[in-house]
Amino acid sequence: MTAGERYRTLIAAEDIQQRIEQMGQELTRRFAGQNLLAVVLLDGAVMFAADLLRCLQVPGLRTHFMRAASYHGGMQSSGKVALTDLPRCRGQSVLLIDDILDSGRTLQRVYAALHEAGAAAISTCVLLDKPGQRECAIESDYVGFTVPEAFLVGYGLDIGGRLRHLPDVCVYEPPSR
Ligand code: IMP
Ligand code: MG
Repeated sequence: MTAGERYRTLIAAEDIQQRIEQMGQELTRRFAGQNLLAVVLLDGAVMFAADLLRCLQVPGLRTHFMRAASYHGGMQSSGKVALTDLPRCRGQSVLLIDDILDSGRTLQRVYAALHEAGAAAISTCVLLDKPGQRECAIESDYVGFTVPEAFLVGYGLDIGGRLRHLPDVCVYEPPSR
C-alpha cells in the first residue's frame, strides 16, 4: 500500500463468481457446437477470462491472448491503444473478452483490428461496464456488472501494476494531497 491510499469493496469475490457462472451458461447456450476463438485482452482480463473460460462448455473453443494497452501506469488513459499479438482469425467466430468497458477505445480498436483480419463474427464480453465514461459508439454483447464512474482495482484491474491480485473489485481512493 502507498501511504494514504485506500480501496473499498464494490463487488465481492463470491458475487463475481456467481455472475460469471451465469455468463458461462449463457455463452455455452449461445456458442454450443460451434468453433469459437476466445481472444483475451491482457493484462486486465486475465482473472476474468481464467474463471469465465472454465465455465464454458464449448468443445470447439480455442483461446488466444493478446495485449491492448492504453494506460501508462496511473489512473489516466493515454487515449492511444497499442495492440500486440493479434490472432489469425480469418473466417472465424470470435469472442472478445476484456475486464472493463470504459471510454470504449480499447474494445473499438481491437474489434476493428479483428474485423480487418477477417473474423466472420465478433461478440464482445466484459466483466464490467462503466457507461458514464463512454467516448466511442460501442456496447458489449455480454456484461457482468454495470459500475459507477470510479477508478476500480482488483480482480485483474490495476493501478500501475498494483492491486490486480485483490479478489474483490474495489473502488480506489488515491492519497489525499
Ligand atoms: P477504455 O479503452 O477506456 O474502454 O478502457 C479499457 C481499458 O482501460 C480496460 O481494458 C482496462 O485495462 C483499463 N481501465 C478502464 N477503467 C479502469 C479502471 O477503473 N481501473 C483500472 N483499469 C481501467
Ligand atoms: Mg485492459
